[in-house]
Amino acid sequence: MSTKILKGIPVSKNIKLSLKERINKLLDVKVVPTLAAVLVGDDAASRIYVNSKHKTFIKNNCNSIVHQLEKSISQAELISFINLLNSDNNIHGILIQLPLPEHLNEEIILNSINSNKDVDGFHPINMGKLLIGSPDFVPCTPQGCLEILKYYNISVQSKHIVIIGRSNIVGKPLMALLSQKFEVGNATVTICHTGTDDISYYTKQADIIIVAIGKALFLTSDMIKKNVDIIDVGINRIESNSEKGYKIVGDVDYDDVIDKASSITPVPGGVGPMTITMLLNNTIIAAERSII
Ligand code: GUN
Repeated sequence: MSTKILKGIPVSKNIKLSLKERINKLLDVKVVPTLAAVLVGDDAASRIYVNSKHKTFIKNNCNSIVHQLEKSISQAELISFINLLNSDNNIHGILIQLPLPEHLNEEIILNSINSNKDVDGFHPINMGKLLIGSPDFVPCTPQGCLEILKYYNISVQSKHIVIIGRSNIVGKPLMALLSQKFEVGNATVTICHTGTDDISYYTKQADIIIVAIGKALFLTSDMIKKNVDIIDVGINRIESNSEKGYKIVGDVDYDDVIDKASSITPVPGGVGPMTITMLLNNTIIAAERSII
């Protein structure tokens, strides 16, 4: 069977092309869509993510200002800093790179972002809007997954979709998006997590499986039925014989499932590029609103 590889780059290029005109319109009126990215501490993976977001913004004639803050910053200091960004009219989007150091309360910090600049879509107001069926800023990775499904004409209407992982960043927003009567939605959604006794029982019934748990090579061929479509959100580093001594793999055992699945996103090069593209999209929306 020839399995379709759902690459993110063509989807991302297509979206960026449509954003180009909107960016140019903003530049014409001297508005440069600008993201303020806040990185607290020195987590290597977070730094890589923030840098690659920065590069994408610059490459697309937008602006990104990276604020590297000390790991020891207090909660009050961080909130004061966010308030400065909230009141700066030249900043359209604010992103606090997660995870935060343990002494900082993520919920309180995300709450302090002006919801009109919440281009990550993590603020309770934006999460709430999504849940009641009036989405505003939609979290980037879930939105990216939907764009991949749309681009490759994988209909979700009335399908049984099993999501593995209930994070606020991916699993929960995906559940809200896919289960509602949206253009890409109206599916029957099952969400599996650490409290699920037998995940295989559910995944074997799924038409589409989306895995977002951060566990390398978790989903294997014995857990799926034939012709399933698989979206792999995981990005994990595992040891390998390569020059670097490691390689990047997803939450899905790609080599094991490849002959059984109908389609699958690769890692790297699947969902990853979409997250940044959707962040750009949300920042442009925020910038457009700033001139109305
Ligand atoms: N950490 C992992 N994914 C994300 C994301 O999409 N946004 C932010 N802010 N932090 C993250």
